[in-house]
Amino acid sequence: MTNTEFTLRLGTHADFDSLYAIYMHGSVNPYLNFEIMDKKSFEPIFNELRQSGDLYVYEHDKKIVATCIAMRLKRRAQHVATLGTLATHPNFQGKGIGSQFIQKIITLLKEQGIKRIDLFAEADNLKAIHFYKKMGFELEGVLKKYFLRENENKYIDEHLMALIVN
Ligand SMILES: CC(C)(COP(=O)(O)OP(=O)(O)OC[C@H]1O[C@@H](n2cnc3c(N)ncnc32)[C@H](O)[C@@H]1OP(=O)(O)O)[C@@H](O)C(=O)NCCC(=O)NCCS
Repeated sequence: MTNTEFTLRLGTHADFDSLYAIYMHGSVNPYLNFEIMDKKSFEPIFNELRQSGDLYVYEHDKKIVATCIAMRLKRRAQHVATLGTLATHPNFQGKGIGSQFIQKIITLLKEQGIKRIDLFAEADNLKAIHFYKKMGFELEGVLKKYFLRENENKYIDEHLMALIVN
């Protein structure tokens, strides 16, 4: 699949069902900041996420194949963007789509004057940690016992990773 077959756009409430299916998938949800829940319970969380920053979706053949939220910080940190809720659709993972998508997001944020992009990745999410390192992000620190999954009886460390944009 070539780069030109994909479209990057801002997500809207009309994307709720497509994003819900990605967010609640068993291979994605453990690494996002909410438990698996029904649509009605998730709706206010979705609205809160949309208000927290710019929701981006990446489309192929009118289907959402990847998504993330870029949250711009304010005032003296207005050159900083924090990425969250990043996921590639489970059927499209491992095909280079996440890399292509995140590269486009980095370019876009750079055009908007962003100098630093940071994010959190759970210490047990080796796939994502490899992914971010490959995209140039570096580990800046470990936030101990930051994350708890309802069905697991242990707190998980969080990796703070950042990319300094030239
Ligand atoms: C992390 C994620 C976004 C990567 O997206 P993707 O589209 O699968 O990534 P790509 O195909 O572009 O792969 C890029 C790199 O990711 C890493 N990666 C991807 N799949 C991997 C796997 N199964 N095992 C280990 N590393 C893997 C590799 O470093 C890979 O580079 P390589 O192909 O040269 O080995 C995707 O796996 C995902 O949605 N995971 C679930 C949700 C999640 O963890 N989100 C991040 C929250 S911090």
